[in-house]
This record gives sequence, structure tokens and C-alpha cells, in this order.
Amino acid sequence: MVEQLGVCMSDLDAKGKAASDPPPYFQAHVFVCCNRRLEGHKRGSCAARGSEALRDYMKARGKELGLAGVRVNMAGCLDRCEFGPAMVIYPEGVWYKIETKSDIDEVLETHLRQKGRVTRLMLTERDVPPAKG
Ligand code: FES
Repeated sequence: MVEQLGVCMSDLDAKGKAASDPPPYFQAHVFVCCNRRLEGHKRGSCAARGSEALRDYMKARGKELGLAGVRVNMAGCLDRCEFGPAMVIYPEGVWYKIETKSDIDEVLETHLRQKGRVTRLMLTERDVPPAKG
């Protein structure tokens, strides 16, 4: 039997959660990639595509809207550079490509307030970087 910190693997549900796990600290935790690479890098970077201003806007707008339990953080490279500016929202693990303040408004309203999805902005399992090498 494999045991981790007193919880048996068999005690975990299909999502890897144990009944003894504390509740999530945030209802939604948003990570906006703010990685910046040098001009001309083959992968580009989210900051070079405007992610820092979009993250600042999202954080401020989320507060104005009074979205409780939502935390918006800047992140380093999330490794989906070619599809950025990239953002991921947990616990759902839903990824978005956000390019404008309007995109941010839509994610705030539809995903974070209404608990829906902005399908036109979602990255999918097909959006993977080219193989390295
Ligand atoms: S630079 Fe943003 S995902 Fe890599």
C-alpha cells in the first residue's frame, strides 16, 4: 500500500482529493503568465504580447466587481507561450488565451461570476507547443 503523509492512495477520490483535505483557500485562483523574453525569441512571450497590463486590469476589475474568493496572480512561463497571452484558472484547470480587456471582462463575468466557460477563448488539449529539440 502506498501512503503519503498518512493518507492512503486508496483514500483519494477520482480527482486526487482526500476527505481530510482542507477546503480550497480560494474559490478560484487565476494565474496570468507575465513572463518576458528577449525580443526575437522563437517562442515569444506573454509579457511581450501585453499580459502584464491585462493581469493588472483583471485584478483591479475583479475587485471592482466584488468577486469574492478570486485571486489573480502573475505567473512565470506556463509553457504554452505560442498560444499566449496565457492564463489558467484553478481548481478547474481551464486555460484561456486573453488578448484584450474585453476578453478579460468576458472571463470575469462568464467563468468567474457565472461559473461558465468562454469557449471562444479556451485553449484545448490540441494547443500544445511544438516539440523541443
Ligand atoms: S511566456 Fe507565457 S506561457 Fe510561456
